[in-house]
Amino acid sequence: MRIRIANGTLVTAESAGRADVLIEDERIVAVGPGADAPADRVIDASGQLVLPGGVDAHTHLDMPLAEGVRSADDFESGTIAAAVGGTTTIVDYAAQERGGSLQRALDEWHARAAGRAVIDYGFHMIVCDPRPDTLDELDALALGGVPSFKLFMAYPGRLMVDDGAIFRVLLRARDNGGLVCLHAENGAVIEVLVERALAAGATAPREHARTRPARAEAEAVQRGLALAEIAGAPLLVVHLSSAEALEEVERAQARGVAAWAETCPQYLLLDAGRYDEPDFAGARYVMSPPLRTRAAQEALWRGLASGAIATVATDHCPFRLADKARGAADFSRIPNGAPGIETRLSLLWDAGVRAGRISASRFVELVATAPARLFGLHPRKGVIAPGADADILIWDPERTLTISAATHRSRVDYSLYEGRKVTGAPSVVLARGRVVAEQGRFVGQTGAGRFLRRAPRTL
Ligand code: URP
Ligand code: ZN
Ligand code: ZN
Repeated sequence: MRIRIANGTLVTAESAGRADVLIEDERIVAVGPGADAPADRVIDASGQLVLPGGVDAHTHLDMPLAEGVRSADDFESGTIAAAVGGTTTIVDYAAQERGGSLQRALDEWHARAAGRAVIDYGFHMIVCDPRPDTLDELDALALGGVPSFKLFMAYPGRLMVDDGAIFRVLLRARDNGGLVCLHAENGAVIEVLVERALAAGATAPREHARTRPARAEAEAVQRGLALAEIAGAPLLVVHLSSAEALEEVERAQARGVAAWAETCPQYLLLDAGRYDEPDFAGARYVMSPPLRTRAAQEALWRGLASGAIATVATDHCPFRLADKARGAADFSRIPNGAPGIETRLSLLWDAGVRAGRISASRFVELVATAPARLFGLHPRKGVIAPGADADILIWDPERTLTISAATHRSRVDYSLYEGRKVTGAPSVVLARGRVVAEQGRFVGQTGAGRFLRRAPRTL
Protein backbone atom coordinates (compact mmCIF):
# COMPACT_ATOMS: atom_id res chain seq x y z
CA MET A 1 0.00 0.00 0.00
CA ARG A 2 1.39 3.38 -1.05
CA ILE A 3 0.14 6.63 0.45
CA ARG A 4 1.20 10.08 -0.71
CA ILE A 5 0.76 13.06 1.56
CA ALA A 6 0.49 15.88 -0.92
CA ASN A 7 0.58 19.68 -0.87
CA GLY A 8 1.46 20.10 2.79
CA THR A 9 4.20 22.13 4.46
CA LEU A 10 6.71 19.74 5.96
CA VAL A 11 8.05 20.88 9.32
CA THR A 12 11.11 19.18 10.72
CA ALA A 13 13.32 20.08 13.67
CA GLU A 14 15.58 21.89 11.22
CA SER A 15 13.36 23.61 8.66
CA ALA A 16 9.94 24.08 7.10
CA GLY A 17 8.96 24.00 3.43
CA ARG A 18 6.64 22.46 0.85
CA ALA A 19 7.33 18.75 0.30
CA ASP A 20 5.26 15.67 -0.43
CA VAL A 21 5.84 12.47 1.52
CA LEU A 22 5.54 8.98 0.06
CA ILE A 23 4.80 6.03 2.33
CA GLU A 24 5.06 2.39 1.38
CA ASP A 25 3.41 0.08 3.91
CA GLU A 26 4.93 1.02 7.29
CA ARG A 27 7.82 3.20 6.16
CA ILE A 28 8.52 6.54 4.55
CA VAL A 29 10.19 5.92 1.20
CA ALA A 30 10.58 9.42 -0.25
CA VAL A 31 10.32 13.04 0.83
CA GLY A 32 10.17 15.93 -1.67
CA PRO A 33 11.65 14.99 -5.05
CA GLY A 34 10.71 11.38 -5.74
CA ALA A 35 7.61 11.47 -3.56
CA ASP A 36 5.32 12.12 -6.53
CA ALA A 37 5.26 8.46 -7.62
CA PRO A 38 1.81 6.86 -8.08
CA ALA A 39 0.06 5.96 -4.84
CA ASP A 40 -3.00 3.94 -3.78
CA ARG A 41 -4.21 6.79 -1.64
CA VAL A 42 -3.46 10.50 -1.64
CA ILE A 43 -4.01 12.53 1.51
CA ASP A 44 -4.35 16.17 0.59
CA ALA A 45 -2.61 18.30 3.22
CA SER A 46 -3.23 21.66 1.50
CA GLY A 47 -3.12 24.48 4.02
CA GLN A 48 -1.83 22.12 6.70
CA LEU A 49 1.50 21.10 8.14
CA VAL A 50 3.12 17.68 8.01
CA LEU A 51 4.99 16.76 11.20
CA PRO A 52 6.59 13.66 12.68
CA GLY A 53 4.32 11.87 15.15
CA GLY A 54 4.87 12.87 18.76
CA VAL A 55 7.10 10.86 21.08
CA ASP A 56 5.97 11.01 24.72
CA ALA A 57 8.86 9.55 26.68
CA HIS A 58 7.28 9.83 30.12
CA THR A 59 4.07 7.93 30.86
CA HIS A 60 2.74 5.70 33.63
CA LEU A 61 0.04 3.43 32.18
CA ASP A 62 -1.61 0.66 34.18
CA MET A 63 0.71 1.47 37.06
CA PRO A 64 -0.08 -0.01 40.48
CA LEU A 65 0.44 2.48 43.31
CA ALA A 66 -0.76 1.15 46.66
CA GLU A 67 -3.83 -0.29 48.37
CA GLY A 68 -5.45 -1.30 45.08
CA VAL A 69 -5.00 2.12 43.46
CA ARG A 70 -3.63 2.11 39.91
CA SER A 71 -3.29 4.71 37.21
CA ALA A 72 -6.60 5.07 35.42
CA ASP A 73 -5.43 4.38 31.87
CA ASP A 74 -4.26 1.01 30.71
CA PHE A 75 -2.24 0.58 27.53
CA GLU A 76 -5.37 0.60 25.41
CA SER A 77 -7.14 3.71 26.71
CA GLY A 78 -3.87 5.55 27.33
CA THR A 79 -2.48 4.97 23.86
CA ILE A 80 -5.81 5.79 22.21
CA ALA A 81 -5.75 9.11 24.06
CA ALA A 82 -2.14 9.61 22.95
CA ALA A 83 -2.89 8.83 19.30
CA VAL A 84 -5.88 11.14 19.10
CA GLY A 85 -3.69 13.96 20.41
CA GLY A 86 -0.89 13.28 17.91
CA THR A 87 1.49 11.08 19.90
CA THR A 88 2.50 7.95 18.00
CA THR A 89 5.17 6.58 20.35
CA ILE A 90 5.34 6.37 24.11
CA VAL A 91 8.04 5.24 26.50
CA ASP A 92 6.41 4.04 29.71
CA TYR A 93 8.04 3.48 33.09
CA ALA A 94 8.15 -0.14 34.22
CA ALA A 95 8.87 -0.32 37.95
CA GLN A 96 10.95 -2.73 39.99
CA GLU A 97 9.38 -3.87 43.25
CA ARG A 98 11.57 -3.88 46.33
CA GLY A 99 12.99 -7.39 46.57
CA GLY A 100 12.03 -8.11 42.98
CA SER A 101 14.10 -8.32 39.83
CA LEU A 102 14.15 -5.90 36.92
CA GLN A 103 13.33 -8.73 34.54
CA ARG A 104 10.17 -9.55 36.48
CA ALA A 105 9.06 -5.93 36.28
CA LEU A 106 9.78 -5.83 32.58
CA ASP A 107 7.83 -9.06 32.00
CA GLU A 108 4.85 -7.57 33.87
CA TRP A 109 4.90 -4.39 31.79
CA HIS A 110 5.17 -6.40 28.57
CA ALA A 111 2.10 -8.38 29.61
CA ARG A 112 0.17 -5.15 30.26
CA ALA A 113 1.04 -3.58 26.92
CA ALA A 114 1.03 -6.50 24.47
CA GLY A 115 -2.22 -6.85 22.56
CA ARG A 116 -3.54 -3.57 23.96
CA ALA A 117 -1.35 -0.64 22.86
CA VAL A 118 -2.55 1.04 19.68
CA ILE A 119 0.78 2.79 19.00
CA ASP A 120 4.39 1.68 19.41
CA TYR A 121 5.85 1.70 22.88
CA GLY A 122 9.10 1.26 24.73
CA PHE A 123 9.93 0.96 28.40
CA HIS A 124 12.24 2.64 30.86
CA MET A 125 12.98 0.87 34.14
CA ILE A 126 12.44 2.40 37.58
CA VAL A 127 15.16 1.06 39.87
CA CYS A 128 14.23 1.29 43.55
CA ASP A 129 16.26 -1.60 44.96
CA PRO A 130 19.75 -1.36 43.47
CA ARG A 131 21.23 -4.57 44.88
CA PRO A 132 24.40 -5.97 43.25
CA ASP A 133 22.31 -8.40 41.18
CA THR A 134 20.05 -5.51 40.12
CA LEU A 135 23.07 -3.57 38.90
CA ASP A 136 24.11 -6.58 36.82
CA GLU A 137 20.64 -6.72 35.32
CA LEU A 138 21.04 -3.14 34.07
CA ASP A 139 23.57 -4.33 31.50
CA ALA A 140 21.16 -6.91 30.12
CA LEU A 141 18.37 -4.33 30.00
CA ALA A 142 20.51 -1.81 28.11
CA LEU A 143 21.41 -4.47 25.55
CA GLY A 144 17.83 -5.74 25.41
CA GLY A 145 16.21 -2.50 24.29
CA VAL A 146 15.57 -0.81 27.64
CA PRO A 147 18.57 1.52 28.00
CA SER A 148 17.14 4.08 30.45
CA PHE A 149 16.78 3.84 34.20
CA LYS A 150 14.79 6.08 36.49
CA LEU A 151 16.02 6.82 39.98
CA PHE A 152 14.13 8.69 42.69
CA MET A 153 15.71 11.11 45.14
CA ALA A 154 12.27 11.46 46.77
CA TYR A 155 9.67 9.16 48.39
CA PRO A 156 11.80 7.71 51.24
CA GLY A 157 10.94 4.15 52.22
CA ARG A 158 9.32 3.43 48.90
CA LEU A 159 11.26 4.59 45.87
CA MET A 160 14.07 6.80 47.13
CA VAL A 161 17.64 5.61 46.67
CA ASP A 162 20.70 7.16 48.28
CA ASP A 163 23.60 8.97 46.63
CA GLY A 164 25.79 5.86 46.64
CA ALA A 165 23.14 3.90 44.76
CA ILE A 166 22.64 6.72 42.28
CA PHE A 167 26.38 6.85 41.74
CA ARG A 168 26.60 3.09 41.17
CA VAL A 169 23.79 3.18 38.60
CA LEU A 170 25.40 6.17 36.88
CA LEU A 171 28.66 4.23 36.57
CA ARG A 172 26.82 1.27 35.05
CA ALA A 173 24.96 3.54 32.65
CA ARG A 174 28.21 5.19 31.62
CA ASP A 175 29.58 1.78 30.68
CA ASN A 176 26.50 0.11 29.20
CA GLY A 177 25.14 3.02 27.14
CA GLY A 178 22.18 3.67 29.41
CA LEU A 179 20.69 7.00 30.40
CA VAL A 180 19.72 7.77 33.98
CA CYS A 181 16.45 9.67 34.32
CA LEU A 182 16.35 11.42 37.66
CA HIS A 183 13.39 12.41 39.83
CA ALA A 184 15.18 15.20 41.62
CA GLU A 185 13.64 16.37 44.89
CA ASN A 186 15.29 16.14 48.29
CA GLY A 187 13.09 13.42 49.80
CA ALA A 188 14.55 13.62 53.32
CA VAL A 189 13.87 17.35 53.64
CA ILE A 190 10.39 16.95 52.19
CA GLU A 191 9.63 14.18 54.67
CA VAL A 192 10.44 16.51 57.59
CA LEU A 193 8.38 19.35 56.11
CA VAL A 194 5.41 17.02 55.61
CA GLU A 195 5.68 15.72 59.17
CA ARG A 196 5.72 19.26 60.54
CA ALA A 197 2.80 20.41 58.41
CA LEU A 198 0.64 17.49 59.52
CA ALA A 199 1.65 17.97 63.15
CA ALA A 200 0.48 21.59 62.86
CA GLY A 201 -2.87 20.44 61.49
CA ALA A 202 -2.18 21.62 57.94
CA THR A 203 -3.74 18.86 55.85
CA ALA A 204 -5.13 20.49 52.67
CA PRO A 205 -3.79 19.97 49.11
CA ARG A 206 -1.98 23.34 49.15
CA GLU A 207 0.44 21.83 51.69
CA HIS A 208 1.69 19.52 48.96
CA ALA A 209 3.35 22.50 47.24
CA ARG A 210 4.43 24.14 50.50
CA THR A 211 6.26 21.03 51.64
CA ARG A 212 8.07 20.54 48.33
CA PRO A 213 9.87 23.87 47.84
CA ALA A 214 11.66 24.71 44.62
CA ARG A 215 14.98 24.78 46.48
CA ALA A 216 14.46 21.12 47.47
CA GLU A 217 14.21 20.37 43.76
CA ALA A 218 17.20 22.56 42.88
CA GLU A 219 19.36 20.99 45.60
CA ALA A 220 18.60 17.50 44.28
CA VAL A 221 19.21 18.55 40.70
CA GLN A 222 22.55 20.09 41.67
CA ARG A 223 23.53 16.94 43.60
CA GLY A 224 22.41 14.57 40.85
CA LEU A 225 24.34 16.52 38.26
CA ALA A 226 27.45 16.54 40.43
CA LEU A 227 27.20 12.75 40.81
CA ALA A 228 26.80 12.38 37.03
CA GLU A 229 29.79 14.64 36.47
CA ILE A 230 31.98 12.61 38.83
CA ALA A 231 30.79 9.37 37.20
CA GLY A 232 31.32 10.73 33.70
CA ALA A 233 27.79 9.64 32.85
CA PRO A 234 24.99 11.53 31.09
CA LEU A 235 21.89 12.51 33.05
CA LEU A 236 18.36 13.54 32.21
CA VAL A 237 16.44 15.45 34.87
CA VAL A 238 12.80 14.54 34.30
CA HIS A 239 9.73 16.68 34.97
CA LEU A 240 11.78 19.79 35.80
CA SER A 241 9.46 22.38 37.31
CA SER A 242 11.32 25.35 38.80
CA ALA A 243 13.56 28.24 37.81
CA GLU A 244 16.01 27.30 40.56
CA ALA A 245 16.37 23.76 39.23
CA LEU A 246 16.73 25.03 35.68
CA GLU A 247 19.60 27.26 36.78
CA GLU A 248 21.41 24.19 38.11
CA VAL A 249 20.96 22.41 34.78
CA GLU A 250 22.24 25.45 32.90
CA ARG A 251 25.27 25.68 35.18
CA ALA A 252 26.13 22.03 34.62
CA GLN A 253 25.64 22.36 30.87
CA ALA A 254 27.92 25.40 30.84
CA ARG A 255 30.73 23.39 32.43
CA GLY A 256 30.33 20.61 29.89
CA VAL A 257 28.28 18.01 31.79
CA ALA A 258 26.14 15.84 29.48
CA ALA A 259 22.96 17.07 31.14
CA TRP A 260 19.45 17.35 29.74
CA ALA A 261 16.15 18.42 31.21
CA GLU A 262 12.59 17.45 30.43
CA THR A 263 9.59 19.52 31.43
CA CYS A 264 5.85 18.99 31.03
CA PRO A 265 2.94 21.20 29.91
CA GLN A 266 1.53 21.45 33.43
CA TYR A 267 4.68 23.23 34.64
CA LEU A 268 4.53 25.63 31.69
CA LEU A 269 0.85 26.48 31.99
CA LEU A 270 -0.45 26.04 35.54
CA ASP A 271 0.64 27.58 38.82
CA ALA A 272 0.42 26.66 42.48
CA GLY A 273 -2.70 28.81 42.92
CA ARG A 274 -4.56 25.74 41.69
CA TYR A 275 -4.01 23.99 45.01
CA ASP A 276 -6.41 26.51 46.59
CA GLU A 277 -9.37 25.49 44.43
CA PRO A 278 -12.39 24.77 46.66
CA ASP A 279 -13.93 21.41 47.56
CA PHE A 280 -10.69 19.51 47.50
CA ALA A 281 -10.30 20.24 43.76
CA GLY A 282 -6.69 21.19 44.51
CA ALA A 283 -6.02 17.44 44.81
CA ARG A 284 -6.29 17.17 41.02
CA TYR A 285 -3.01 19.03 40.72
CA VAL A 286 -1.11 16.97 43.26
CA MET A 287 1.92 15.73 41.39
CA SER A 288 5.62 15.81 42.17
CA PRO A 289 7.35 18.12 41.75
CA PRO A 290 4.35 20.38 42.40
CA LEU A 291 3.09 23.28 40.32
CA ARG A 292 5.15 26.43 40.91
CA THR A 293 4.89 30.18 40.29
CA ARG A 294 4.15 32.16 37.15
CA ALA A 295 7.75 33.35 37.19
CA ALA A 296 8.84 29.70 37.09
CA GLN A 297 6.65 29.15 34.05
CA GLU A 298 8.35 32.05 32.26
CA ALA A 299 11.78 30.67 33.16
CA LEU A 300 10.81 27.27 31.73
CA TRP A 301 9.57 28.85 28.50
CA ARG A 302 12.89 30.64 28.22
CA GLY A 303 14.63 27.30 28.80
CA LEU A 304 12.66 25.74 25.97
CA ALA A 305 13.56 28.54 23.60
CA SER A 306 17.26 28.61 24.57
CA GLY A 307 17.76 24.84 24.37
CA ALA A 308 18.52 24.41 28.08
CA ILE A 309 15.41 22.22 28.29
CA ALA A 310 15.64 19.45 25.71
CA THR A 311 12.17 17.97 25.61
CA VAL A 312 8.54 18.18 26.71
CA ALA A 313 6.85 14.98 27.91
CA THR A 314 3.65 14.53 29.89
CA ASP A 315 4.36 12.43 33.01
CA HIS A 316 0.85 11.11 32.32
CA CYS A 317 -0.01 9.43 35.62
CA PRO A 318 -3.78 9.75 35.98
CA PHE A 319 -5.63 8.89 39.17
CA ARG A 320 -9.40 9.03 39.45
CA LEU A 321 -10.96 11.57 41.78
CA ALA A 322 -12.13 8.76 44.07
CA ASP A 323 -8.49 7.73 44.43
CA LYS A 324 -7.37 11.31 45.02
CA ALA A 325 -9.94 11.38 47.86
CA ARG A 326 -7.73 9.03 49.88
CA GLY A 327 -5.96 12.19 50.93
CA ALA A 328 -9.07 14.13 52.00
CA ALA A 329 -7.81 14.37 55.59
CA ASP A 330 -4.09 14.24 54.84
CA PHE A 331 -2.56 15.75 51.69
CA SER A 332 0.40 13.37 51.86
CA ARG A 333 -1.94 10.46 51.08
CA ILE A 334 -3.19 11.96 47.80
CA PRO A 335 -1.85 9.80 44.95
CA ASN A 336 0.80 11.84 43.13
CA GLY A 337 0.25 12.25 39.41
CA ALA A 338 -1.98 13.85 36.79
CA PRO A 339 -3.20 13.20 33.26
CA GLY A 340 -1.87 14.84 30.10
CA ILE A 341 -1.13 12.29 27.37
CA GLU A 342 -3.85 13.56 25.02
CA THR A 343 -3.25 17.29 25.15
CA ARG A 344 0.53 17.74 25.09
CA LEU A 345 0.87 18.74 21.45
CA SER A 346 -2.11 21.06 21.21
CA LEU A 347 -1.21 22.83 24.46
CA LEU A 348 2.40 23.36 23.44
CA TRP A 349 1.43 24.47 19.96
CA ASP A 350 -1.17 26.91 21.24
CA ALA A 351 0.82 28.41 24.12
CA GLY A 352 4.21 28.00 22.46
CA VAL A 353 4.07 28.34 18.69
CA ARG A 354 0.92 30.45 18.33
CA ALA A 355 1.98 32.68 21.18
CA GLY A 356 5.34 33.28 19.48
CA ARG A 357 7.44 31.68 22.22
CA ILE A 358 8.91 28.89 20.09
CA SER A 359 9.08 28.18 16.36
CA ALA A 360 7.23 25.33 14.67
CA SER A 361 10.58 23.57 14.14
CA ARG A 362 11.47 23.88 17.80
CA PHE A 363 8.05 22.45 18.64
CA VAL A 364 8.81 19.39 16.47
CA GLU A 365 12.18 19.02 18.12
CA LEU A 366 10.75 19.22 21.65
CA VAL A 367 7.85 16.80 21.19
CA ALA A 368 9.30 14.31 18.72
CA THR A 369 12.87 14.55 17.43
CA ALA A 370 14.73 15.26 20.68
CA PRO A 371 13.03 12.52 22.73
CA ALA A 372 13.60 10.05 19.88
CA ARG A 373 17.30 10.94 19.89
CA LEU A 374 17.67 10.93 23.67
CA PHE A 375 16.03 7.56 24.06
CA GLY A 376 17.57 5.58 21.21
CA LEU A 377 14.60 5.69 18.83
CA HIS A 378 16.15 7.92 16.18
CA PRO A 379 16.15 7.71 13.12
CA ARG A 380 13.22 5.26 13.22
CA LYS A 381 10.99 7.67 15.17
CA GLY A 382 10.79 11.43 15.55
CA VAL A 383 11.69 12.33 11.97
CA ILE A 384 10.18 12.43 8.52
CA ALA A 385 12.88 10.93 6.31
CA PRO A 386 13.26 7.94 3.99
CA GLY A 387 13.59 4.78 6.06
CA ALA A 388 11.79 6.15 9.12
CA ASP A 389 8.54 4.65 10.35
CA ALA A 390 5.59 6.43 8.77
CA ASP A 391 4.45 8.07 12.00
CA ILE A 392 3.07 11.31 10.63
CA LEU A 393 0.70 14.07 11.67
CA ILE A 394 -1.28 16.20 9.28
CA TRP A 395 -1.40 19.19 11.58
CA ASP A 396 -4.18 21.72 11.25
CA PRO A 397 -2.90 24.94 12.82
CA GLU A 398 -6.44 26.36 12.84
CA ARG A 399 -8.31 23.44 14.39
CA THR A 400 -9.72 24.58 17.75
CA LEU A 401 -10.55 22.25 20.62
CA THR A 402 -12.12 22.80 23.99
CA ILE A 403 -10.41 20.44 26.40
CA SER A 404 -12.79 18.55 28.67
CA ALA A 405 -13.01 15.31 30.61
CA ALA A 406 -16.43 14.88 29.01
CA THR A 407 -14.84 14.38 25.60
CA HIS A 408 -11.31 13.14 26.20
CA ARG A 409 -10.33 9.51 25.56
CA SER A 410 -8.45 8.96 28.78
CA ARG A 411 -10.41 7.01 31.40
CA VAL A 412 -9.59 9.50 34.10
CA ASP A 413 -12.55 11.57 35.27
CA TYR A 414 -11.01 15.06 35.18
CA SER A 415 -8.72 17.23 33.11
CA LEU A 416 -6.13 19.69 34.38
CA TYR A 417 -7.32 22.01 31.58
CA GLU A 418 -11.12 21.71 31.78
CA GLY A 419 -12.73 24.28 29.46
CA ARG A 420 -9.46 25.58 28.01
CA LYS A 421 -9.62 26.41 24.30
CA VAL A 422 -6.58 25.52 22.24
CA THR A 423 -5.89 26.08 18.57
CA GLY A 424 -3.72 23.63 16.63
CA ALA A 425 -4.44 19.90 16.50
CA PRO A 426 -3.85 16.91 14.25
CA SER A 427 -6.48 16.37 11.56
CA VAL A 428 -4.99 13.00 10.57
CA VAL A 429 -2.59 10.79 12.55
CA LEU A 430 -0.68 7.95 10.90
CA ALA A 431 1.17 5.32 12.90
CA ARG A 432 3.46 3.05 10.89
CA GLY A 433 1.55 3.97 7.74
CA ARG A 434 -1.95 3.34 9.07
CA VAL A 435 -4.42 6.11 9.82
CA VAL A 436 -5.18 5.84 13.53
CA ALA A 437 -7.03 9.11 14.14
CA GLU A 438 -9.04 11.51 11.99
CA GLN A 439 -10.45 14.81 13.22
CA GLY A 440 -10.20 13.64 16.82
CA ARG A 441 -11.81 10.26 16.17
CA PHE A 442 -9.84 7.11 16.91
CA VAL A 443 -9.89 4.76 13.91
CA GLY A 444 -6.93 2.51 14.76
CA GLN A 445 -6.73 -0.99 16.14
CA THR A 446 -6.30 -2.30 19.65
CA GLY A 447 -3.05 -4.24 19.83
CA ALA A 448 -1.49 -2.73 16.71
CA GLY A 449 1.33 -1.11 18.72
CA ARG A 450 4.67 -2.95 18.90
CA PHE A 451 7.39 -3.00 21.50
CA LEU A 452 10.36 -0.86 20.49
CA ARG A 453 13.81 -2.18 21.34
CA ARG A 454 15.72 1.02 21.83
CA ALA A 455 19.40 1.42 21.12
CA PRO A 456 21.91 2.20 23.87
CA ARG A 457 24.11 5.25 23.45
CA THR A 458 27.20 4.56 21.43
CA LEU A 459 29.21 7.62 22.56
O1 URP B 1 3.64 12.95 40.71
C1 URP B 1 4.12 12.32 39.79
N1 URP B 1 4.95 12.90 38.96
N2 URP B 1 3.80 11.04 39.63
C2 URP B 1 4.32 10.16 38.66
C3 URP B 1 5.57 9.49 39.10
C4 URP B 1 6.76 10.36 38.88
O2 URP B 1 7.37 10.78 39.84
O3 URP B 1 7.12 10.61 37.72
ZN1 ZN C 1 9.20 11.36 38.95
ZN1 ZN D 1 6.61 10.17 36.03
